[in-house]
Amino acid sequence: MAKHATPKLDQLESGPWPSFVSDIKQEAENRAKNPKGLDYQIPVDCPEDLLGVLELSYNDGETHWKHGGIVGVFGYGGGVIGRYCDQPEKFPGVAHFHTVRLNQPSGKYYTSEYLRALCDIWDLRGSGLTNMHGSTGDIVLLGTTTPQLEEIFWEVTHNLDTDLGGSGSNLRTPADCLGQTRCEYACYDTSALALEMTREYQDELHRPAFPYKFKFKFDGCPNGCVAAIARSDFSVIGTWKDGIKIDQAAVKAYVAGEFKPNAGAHSGRDWGKFDLVEEVVKRCPSEAISWDGSTMSIDRKECVRCMHCINTMPRALRIGDERGASILCGAKAPILDGAQMSSLVVPFVEAEAPFDEIKEVVENIWDWWMEEGKNRERLGETMKRLSLQKLLEVTGQQADPRHVMEPRHNPYIFFKEEEVPGGWDRDITEYRKRHLR
Ligand code: HEM
Ligand code: HEM
Ligand code: SF4
Ligand code: SF4
Repeated sequence: MAKHATPKLDQLESGPWPSFVSDIKQEAENRAKNPKGLDYQIPVDCPEDLLGVLELSYNDGETHWKHGGIVGVFGYGGGVIGRYCDQPEKFPGVAHFHTVRLNQPSGKYYTSEYLRALCDIWDLRGSGLTNMHGSTGDIVLLGTTTPQLEEIFWEVTHNLDTDLGGSGSNLRTPADCLGQTRCEYACYDTSALALEMTREYQDELHRPAFPYKFKFKFDGCPNGCVAAIARSDFSVIGTWKDGIKIDQAAVKAYVAGEFKPNAGAHSGRDWGKFDLVEEVVKRCPSEAISWDGSTMSIDRKECVRCMHCINTMPRALRIGDERGASILCGAKAPILDGAQMSSLVVPFVEAEAPFDEIKEVVENIWDWWMEEGKNRERLGETMKRLSLQKLLEVTGQQADPRHVMEPRHNPYIFFKEEEVPGGWDRDITEYRKRHLR
């Protein structure tokens, strides 16, 4: 018998999609039965009280968590999101309901052994509820009490070799697409870069030293499977410099219908026979592809590496061999001054371990933004306030047409004094000698 009536939530147990309500109820039942005879360190009925407070929020149409919450572990300035229920008498099981962020492995590959060990810790010291994973990438352990935080931290570091993730005005947990582990489009080893950057900048991740949050994300190619361009202040996106490799026999196999276009991604609907001209040649944004009926060719100078042709004919077209990445900066959500995607800063950078070229760009940006960024101002906003030109200067980038989608149309152009013959110090009496009032 459930502790609270949840008629609204019960409705979410129907339908084909996996129901979070059914799953939470199952965990509530499991804790009530306690088959392993655990000495639960937080209330046994924590998941039931969570459903209770959620049902109340469904009725009221408003949240029942108090504002904020500052908790953590010694040595670190972030990693735990404190939270307290505003109805603690009614729902004592979630009076404290803190979230612990754990740093996930690159690409989120696990062994059952690891996940079991993690669940064992969490069953004992937490609610038994998780988020796999947070949007930034972390393993999210949802709901525990303050006294358990150091206990959990001790166990994950000593027994799981796992650290906390980031929160607060610091470097947040980096994340990557699965890259070369199982994608033939990957232009560099995203997992290696994510791991390297996470390790290199542990201090920046665990102890807030920035004007505001800062995120890294690493995509292996422009398809953007980790959405670096939209969800990270510092976005590294793989690309290549030479030409796309074309296997003419495989092109013919696509034309003959032996290979499915887009690896069969549109097989749920009849789109007719594959038409190379309509589906690839005419879709190329640069009109860089030609097809004479037997040979496909690509003008590499005009190709913008959009991935369309490769995505459509993955068995015939391959990324080039001179690989690296582009660095783009400034993506952020709307608050305060509007949403931004990242803007191109370094068109092409080497992306080989130990990734020194990439680290240099990061550190130059941090040196600048940590001094010049205003309180709670994202890098993207600092770029708007102090200009892309300033960012290019501090990162040692020569301005290049690729830095803009189009040139400015307003004429409010700043010149540096040294660029202007005679400088800015002028005498009005000199001018009046030639122009009477
Ligand atoms: C033959 C008629 C006019 C001429 C030759 C003329 C010329 C100019 C010039 C050279 C400027 C300076 C532009 C700059 O700073 O880049 C200016 C600005 C301005 N003019 Fe005129 N103007 C004329 C008529 C008018 C009229 C009839 C009005 C209003 C009813 C007007 C309103 C303004 C305003 C408000 C500005 C300032 C715009 C700004 O700073 O953004 N002008 N005009
Ligand atoms: C209650 C009435 C008004 C208020 C509160 C007001 C307010 C302002 C403000 C805040 C600015 C910008 C100043 C700046 O950029 O530093 C401005 C500029 C301007 N206003 Fe008004 N204004 C009023 C009425 C008018 C009227 C009646 C006219 C014209 C018939 C007018 C014409 C202009 C022009 C031409 C500018 C541009 C001046 C420049 O760029 O140098 N305004 N006004
Ligand atoms: S971003 Fe590119 S390399 Fe990474 S998984 Fe997606 S398609 Fe593959
Ligand atoms: S990658 Fe894009 S721009 Fe380049 S040839 Fe293919 S479709 Fe055209």
